Amino acid sequence: MTTTATVGLDRAYLLDWYRRNRERSANLFALIDESAMHDRPIPLRHPFVFYEGHLPVFSYLILNERALGEAPIDPALEKLFERGIDPSSLDAARTHDRSDWPPRERIEELGHTIDERISRALTTAKIVDDSVPRLVRGQAAYTMLEHEQMHHETLLYIIHQLDASKKGRIAQVHVDHGEIRNEMRDVDAGIATLGADPDEIPFGWDNEFGRMEVDVPAFSMQRFPVTNGDWLTFVADGGPVPVFWNERDGEMFLRGVFEELPLPLSWPVWVTNQQARAYAQWAGKRLPTEAEYHRAAFAAPGGIERPYPWGANAPHPMFGNFDFERFDAEPVDAHPAGASAWEINDLIGNGWEWTSTPFGPLPGFEPMASYPEYSADFFDGRHYVMKGASPVTAREMIRRSFRNWFYDDYPYMYAKFRLVE
Ligand code: AVJ
Ligand code: FE
Repeated sequence: MTTTATVGLDRAYLLDWYRRNRERSANLFALIDESAMHDRPIPLRHPFVFYEGHLPVFSYLILNERALGEAPIDPALEKLFERGIDPSSLDAARTHDRSDWPPRERIEELGHTIDERISRALTTAKIVDDSVPRLVRGQAAYTMLEHEQMHHETLLYIIHQLDASKKGRIAQVHVDHGEIRNEMRDVDAGIATLGADPDEIPFGWDNEFGRMEVDVPAFSMQRFPVTNGDWLTFVADGGPVPVFWNERDGEMFLRGVFEELPLPLSWPVWVTNQQARAYAQWAGKRLPTEAEYHRAAFAAPGGIERPYPWGANAPHPMFGNFDFERFDAEPVDAHPAGASAWEINDLIGNGWEWTSTPFGPLPGFEPMASYPEYSADFFDGRHYVMKGASPVTAREMIRRSFRNWFYDDYPYMYAKFRLVE
């Protein structure tokens, strides 16, 4: 079943969600060797130690302090851990360097205090109050809950770049279907509804509002995302080697989260937006716009639009590779049940999908009360919209209006693409 707006009032549901988040965070931090907590495997991001403080501090700031008016616990630490970074270059990243992170015990103690205060707030405080902007429809509670889940993904792609000798390992079974025969599928002209109305969904981030209908001309789109096998041909013709590949003695291997694998030809290739564009140009096609992705994923012949590519059922592992069923990708044809009405597969899960649309506001955009910087700071023409989900995107964030974004040259995201014409 899809969730309904009444969920916003269901304290037990929110409390359980918070506990599941905290448990997943603890399990992810436990993968990192103690000695690597100050490492920055991605120099454009803070070291792991920042995230251990950032997750609880952000939640406390958003819900308890700013929305409910509770007093700070430790103002200095709260300031230190308030916000992550997204510098545009390594030079810009250097301005965020620091060596004086607090000891881990202190951060963990603060985390425990915050967990108690948040559990108490979710149990007894007035977390829905339509006369307080931050509490309308329970906004602050959802904001901190989805924020922690986004960082599960951030953590994993940073852990991905950490040397195998410095992290734990979770065993997974890997299947490869070999070369995939791709095909173009026709998508009728029609309306794509981007964004949503506030009463349509229990919660959305500010960039999901308002609702916009776009007239999209007919186009055709690849049935499957571009695979590692496809990308090999591009490399042979001078194309770039993706950051997730290793080249040794003329042979390519995939750098999985926990282990290296012989390159699985049937898995989607994860690349930057710029690399995806270069491939499209080489292939004589182009990337889909955000509206075209919506048509391919959510529209059906006859003019209706549906909540998910597969219809109206809530996200479930049979429909795609998302919600931590595994950590790495899978063959692009692994989930026929998740195909859209146009028989286009793998639109949600197995890696976000790049679009050619720069990240920007929908008409009527207003910065959200709980976190006004969330999107507005990134409307700079250099970040591009990604849709769908990766293997480590939580099911709560899988909804039609959800929009993700990154710099067009950021190579560490789990992002795939496909071509249209
Ligand atoms: C929406 C995933 C691009 O990771 O930079 C986390 C989410 N914002 N903390 C990011 C976010 C603040 C954001 N993305
Ligand atoms: Fe954050």
